[in-house]
Amino acid sequence: MILLGVNIDHVATVREARQTYEPDPVWAAAEAELGGADLITCHLRQDRRHVCDRDLRLLSETTAVELNLETSMEEEIVDIALETAPSKATLVPERRREVTTEGGLDVAAEVQRVSDVVKKLQDKGTRVSLFIDPDPEQIEESARAGAEEVELHTGPYAEAEGRSKREQCLRTLGRAAGKARKMDLVVNAGHGLTYRNVQPVAERLLPRELHIGHSIVSRSIFSGMKQAVSGMKDLIDRAESRVR
Ligand code: PXP
Repeated sequence: MILLGVNIDHVATVREARQTYEPDPVWAAAEAELGGADLITCHLRQDRRHVCDRDLRLLSETTAVELNLETSMEEEIVDIALETAPSKATLVPERRREVTTEGGLDVAAEVQRVSDVVKKLQDKGTRVSLFIDPDPEQIEESARAGAEEVELHTGPYAEAEGRSKREQCLRTLGRAAGKARKMDLVVNAGHGLTYRNVQPVAERLLPRELHIGHSIVSRSIFSGMKQAVSGMKDLIDRAESRVR
């Protein structure tokens, strides 16, 4: 079964819009679990624009499913990840002014540094995934860096306009998934996935996990978090059952 990781960052974004105490991303995580989330994901950014240290502390104490901490390579954040020792960490690039994570981690450019962080996290019992573009070199370097998993960046697929561009992106993702599996890497995918575009990714990649945030949080405003998550789970399950 394809697992669903629900990213609750943007619940905290709404809270931070007023710098107040609500809505609480910790409540959102509990509701997401009730809706069937298999993992809860959050990204403690250096500028703390959404999730803050208190959220991470409470999430790590209260989340019953796996907690996946998106972690940049900055020393301060890596130290917090090591102290928190979540069951999973996903290494992501982080640029201060970006609206959201823009591209995959350039593992090829800094394989030694990545490999040092991977090793430190693994020594704490955290399994490590690298968020990368679906690029053969990045996959090879991810394996070389010692990660167990990769998360293939589906942003370009999500943004592609027209059937043929989307199909091209799906083919690139499919080839990357095949190569990663040959290198014994677990394949996950995420970024920019929505209720409208998730099914082809589920069908074509059959990833272990799909990681989705903005679209689920957006729907939860109207339907509640529990129903938003179970609706997404249903779509993924139906896509998977068509090909398995
Ligand atoms: N995967 C990674 C590595 C991310 O950085 C993000 C965004 O925080 C997501 C998945 C979720 O992306 P979205 O909010 O577009 O669903």
